[in-house]
Amino acid sequence: MKELLEKIHAAGLEEIKQVKNLEALKEIEVKYLGRKGELTNILKGLKDLSDEEKRIIGPATNGIKLDLEAKIKDKQSDLEAAEIAKKLAGEFFDITAPGTMTAHEIGHIHPLSRVQQEAENIFSDMGFTVMDGPEVESEYYNFEGLNIPADHPARDMQDTFFLKDKSEQKHGRLVLRTHTSPVQIRTMEKYGAPLRIIVPGRVFRYEATDASHDTTFYQVEGLVIDKNISLADLKGVMAEFLTRLFGKEVKVRFRPGYFPFVEPGLELDFSCLICNEKGCSVCKHTGWVEFMGAGMVHPNVLKAGGIDSTKYQGWAFGFGLTRLVMMRYGINDIRVLQSGDIRFTQQF
Ligand code: DAH
Repeated sequence: MKELLEKIHAAGLEEIKQVKNLEALKEIEVKYLGRKGELTNILKGLKDLSDEEKRIIGPATNGIKLDLEAKIKDKQSDLEAAEIAKKLAGEFFDITAPGTMTAHEIGHIHPLSRVQQEAENIFSDMGFTVMDGPEVESEYYNFEGLNIPADHPARDMQDTFFLKDKSEQKHGRLVLRTHTSPVQIRTMEKYGAPLRIIVPGRVFRYEATDASHDTTFYQVEGLVIDKNISLADLKGVMAEFLTRLFGKEVKVRFRPGYFPFVEPGLELDFSCLICNEKGCSVCKHTGWVEFMGAGMVHPNVLKAGGIDSTKYQGWAFGFGLTRLVMMRYGINDIRVLQSGDIRFTQQF
């Protein structure tokens, strides 16, 4: 009997040692300690044994029972811990893994802003200061100060947006500036000579719109006032500006032109970059692209700005930033630039 007990004990211990999961452990528990388990059967059979045997077998059986119970309990907590560890390993959450959400869309810089910024950078490098002026301007700054007399065609109701507001009495009616040139007078008044400025800005014309005309567009004004300033400087500055802007050698040429605020006045063309002066549709088969108006600042304009025209002279220019952008990116309808259509801006 004693031998049998020891065999059961040893077998139980071995099975507990080998068991790999909680379910199997449960089966072992039932097998040895359950109501119909091997040790329970022996305890049930004690009544048929002699007193002598009872005294030995009873406590021995109980001892084995307690021992197996304890071993099963230990094994159970080992197996549970292993199971949790395994679960955790399987559920590893990599906090450094890249997210699966779609990235936020990045905004786009409008081509007008882009080219304006490039122009500002190039002129700044050449010692120009970037100036600003009001878009709502007085008739005086927009016209009179620039030597544009009251009967000049540019002052026609067809070209200019007038504001209903009559508050500015001193300088005439208020208008939406038709060009950036009024900032010439404002800057001369404020800073005097010498000056070296550019003025990028928005201008307005009361016009019927089509693919090449809009009521709103952008210009860049330039003004240099100093002693011993000549048109040769203007030619050099513009050739350098365009060469840097296009990243390619650009030539410029002058043609006579007329603007009330300059004398002599001229038009500046640059060599066509598309065909290298051979002639193409962009340059209308002339090899040259009309670019801007310019000239030596009219003495009346210097006077309006409070500058002594016997001591100082200078030149001024004005070009269409909008047209430059259209040429650069091959945009054939001016209206898309101000449309606010993001399908347009997204392309840049
Ligand atoms: N203000 C003129 C325009 O809007 C452009 C212009 C021509 C500006 C000659 C100038 C200049 O400063 O000298 O058409």
